Formats: sequence, C-alpha cells, structure tokens
Amino acid sequence: MRLKLAPGLTIKKSRINGRGCFATRPFERRKKIAEYTGERISDFEARRRAKGRLHLRICDIDGRWSVDGARGGNGTHYINHSCDPNAYMQILYGHVLFFALRDILAGEEITIDYEQTLLPDSRRCRCGARNCRGTINKIRRWRVSAR
Ligand SMILES: C[S@@+](CC[C@H](N)C(=O)[O-])C[C@H]1O[C@@H](n2cnc3c(N)ncnc32)[C@H](O)[C@@H]1O
Ligand SMILES: [Zn+2]
Repeated sequence: MRLKLAPGLTIKKSRINGRGCFATRPFERRKKIAEYTGERISDFEARRRAKGRLHLRICDIDGRWSVDGARGGNGTHYINHSCDPNAYMQILYGHVLFFALRDILAGEEITIDYEQTLLPDSRRCRCGARNCRGTINKIRRWRVSAR
C-alpha cells in the first residue's frame, strides 16, 4: 500500500537510522508540523506488538491508548530520535501532534527526543549530536545519598 504522506514531509535515508522524515518546506518555530496518524490500539496490544519489532512505530497517548503508525501512518512514523531535536511532540485531546522547536528548513530531517519508549534502556542512540546522551531512552537513575 502506498504511503499517504502529510503535506510538507517526505521519507528518505537518514544519517541517524534507516529512513527518516524530512521537511520539504520550511516550518516556523512553534508551528504545527503534522499529526501522528495510525491505528489506535490499547497499551496492552502496544506492548505485545513492540516485542517483535526492531523499529518501533508505536506512540503512547495517555498510558491506556497508543497509536501504531505502521498501519495508516503518514510519514511521521519515520521521525527518528535526536538528543538535540528540532521538533517536539504534544498530546492534545487524544491527538499526537508534532511542532517545530525552532525554525526548520526544507531538506532538514525532523527529529524529536523520544524520552521514553518501549525499547530496552540499553538501546544505543546514534543521533550524532554533540550532547548525545548515549541511549534513546532517558534513563532515570536513583541518587543514593551516602551518610
Ligand atoms: C519511528 S522509527 C524511526 C524510523 C526508522 N529509522 C526506520 O527506518 O524505520 C523508530 C525506530 O528507529 C530507530 N531509531 C530512531 N532514532 C534512533 C537513534 N537516535 N539511534 C538509533 N536508532 C534510532 C529505533 O530502532 C526506533 O525503534
Ligand atoms: Zn543521541
């Protein structure tokens, strides 16, 4: 089935990982880029599907429901993670939306900070940013205070 891309987006080979989502026109800072579309599934089903996948295209909405971009995605399901992203994701009234964090030029790869995913915490980040934290997930470490 042919992918129906959101306006202003295209899919190309990425320097970060596999294929990525690229802008075909500029996006101004704070302006909406697109909505994350796909099949609405329960988080239980999301965890089940995540097990067998190398590339995760599932986005959690509210801890109960998720969207699987692998079915009915519009190109935003190719957005890679970067520790120095140019976009961010916001959930508004059950809709997953992407906005520009800064001005984005045509041709730039669109990236967000995934922060927390169903991928194991050990999954290495290959974003190449100077401030790369090394892992895709933001790993919370408990601070043990010595007395
Ligand atoms: C939504 S897909 C992104 C599209 C993916 N690059 C592809 O070609 O299908 C998310 C998956 O891409 C990979 N990925 C995204 N950002 C990454 C990064 N910074 N470093 C390593 N792998 C990354 C991981 O396998 C992740 O599960
Ligand atoms: Zn990184």
